[in-house]
Amino acid sequence: MAKDKAWAARTAGATSKEGWDERNDKLDGYNTPEPATLALLNNFTVAKKVWEPASGYHCISDVLTKNGHEVYKTDVHEWVPDTYDAISDFMSFKQMPSGYEDADIITNPPFRYAQEFVEQSMNLLAEGQSCGLLLRLQFMEGQKRKAMFQKYPPRVYTFSKRIPRMHMFNHVENGGKTCSSTLCFAWFVFTKGYTGPSINYWI
Ligand SMILES: C[S@@+](CC[C@H](N)C(=O)[O-])C[C@H]1O[C@@H](n2cnc3c(N)ncnc32)[C@H](O)[C@@H]1O
Repeated sequence: MAKDKAWAARTAGATSKEGWDERNDKLDGYNTPEPATLALLNNFTVAKKVWEPASGYHCISDVLTKNGHEVYKTDVHEWVPDTYDAISDFMSFKQMPSGYEDADIITNPPFRYAQEFVEQSMNLLAEGQSCGLLLRLQFMEGQKRKAMFQKYPPRVYTFSKRIPRMHMFNHVENGGKTCSSTLCFAWFVFTKGYTGPSINYWI
């Protein structure tokens, strides 16, 4: 379900001809620190099968796999050659992947397209299945989002302690220093068919 040409240019439009920084910037390439995914697993019952539709360097996928989940990994860009089930724009999917019809969707999407990721997930998921997105707490505000939150009341798992900073892909490998985070994050969980209330948990 490609939104429009502009969407494609902003996301899948990142081409191999572009420099690494440019591509990374367009696609919002950040690695999720392991404790963030473990916190979701400790607080929410994730389905055995999971689709990670923006898998990047597989930081979320690897933790899920280590913890016994079967993960279908896709991304719009092939960051790590030959490690994905498909290279595709998440917006282009018309249905859940074959064999993963009853899966949950878990990811850390590009923040500026987070609402599109929620809406696309809710279109694709089977009744009772969930989408869990790791996002800045700032996602809570905004008038467009208010309408979405009323339609799909989320359960929000707010980190009471800051998670380790999310670094851009290859930041450390390129000689960058690790440092602590100045941002608050939460897991926003949307369950297909759940009508509310919206609940916040402090984790
Ligand atoms: C913030 S990174 C997160 C990577 C990984 N999920 C993690 O948590 O470590 C965002 C990822 O979204 C991917 N992405 C951006 N737009 C996308 C789209 N339309 N469809 C699928 N993946 C997309 C990027 O290529 C990048 O890998």
